[in-house]
Amino acid sequence: MKVRKAVIPAAGLGTRFLPATKALAKEMLPIVDKPTIQFIVEEAKASGIEDILIVEGKQKRSIEDHFDSAPELEQNLEAKGKTALLQMVKDTTDIGVNIFFVRQPYPNGLGDAVRLAKSFIAGEPFVVMLGDDLMQDQVPLTKQLIDEYERTHASILAVKKVPHNEVSAYGVIDPESEVTKGLYNVRKFVEKPAVEDAPSDLAIIGRYLLTPEIFDILDNQKPGKGNEIQLTDAIDTLNQTQRVFAHEFTGDRYDVGNKFGFVETTIEYGLTHPEVKDELRAYILKLADRLRQEDAATPPQQD
Ligand code: G1P
Repeated sequence: MKVRKAVIPAAGLGTRFLPATKALAKEMLPIVDKPTIQFIVEEAKASGIEDILIVEGKQKRSIEDHFDSAPELEQNLEAKGKTALLQMVKDTTDIGVNIFFVRQPYPNGLGDAVRLAKSFIAGEPFVVMLGDDLMQDQVPLTKQLIDEYERTHASILAVKKVPHNEVSAYGVIDPESEVTKGLYNVRKFVEKPAVEDAPSDLAIIGRYLLTPEIFDILDNQKPGKGNEIQLTDAIDTLNQTQRVFAHEFTGDRYDVGNKFGFVETTIEYGLTHPEVKDELRAYILKLADRLRQEDAATPPQQD
């Protein structure tokens, strides 16, 4: 069956970005000039996804409004002859995929958010795309998973090696064997293990292709790490009755879910953005000189 549907959980409280996220969904924070959720929707579209369900939390208005039309703004831009901006605004509405919304009433975890998509998914294989991870590669990562699914007809999720001391921030796989280059059979999926207990440094990075059998498991899933319903735990159970592969992503991943990653991503994207790239590059080079001079002028620390 063709993979046509995606679920984008966007119901987190965004506590790492307070106070910015007090009244604004974290997924609406922009990288230069584009909200992070728009990058995710564009990746879905580029991967052949037709229908998207966004699972929202309390700050739903901003996400819905972003993908809705904005007649007043459009008229204003039209009257002023700002055609490029007008097109940009229209492109967020005519984005080429259908977007649906559902609210997660309580922040009970990623597994609970995905569970809310059960009737939307209606028995089809589907993808889950997390807004904290932006991916860049020649072929979009979601498309890579779909291509793999078309060969194997099995669930598959994306993993990437992370520094060993960071594994406890992720779901981690215990790889059993490498089937083909970068495709693993998995013994176990573990949500946020202690560094010393982690079975590998291969972390789950926010793109999942799942068969609909996951929903029966999620319906009965007990709370796990952080007392939340964990998607990783349900995937581990699914892996006991049908194969769940892991696909190692070799492209670039930007973690916009934490402050440093967010600033880093903003700089990286800025360096490719037609309007600011030249100025930004010149600024960074000047800044690096200044910082080096400052460092050289600082006397070494005495103990
Ligand atoms: C979630 C998942 C985790 C995964 C991570 C990827 O965690 O629970 O398994 O590795 O996303 O970003 P979160 O970052 O939402 O705590």
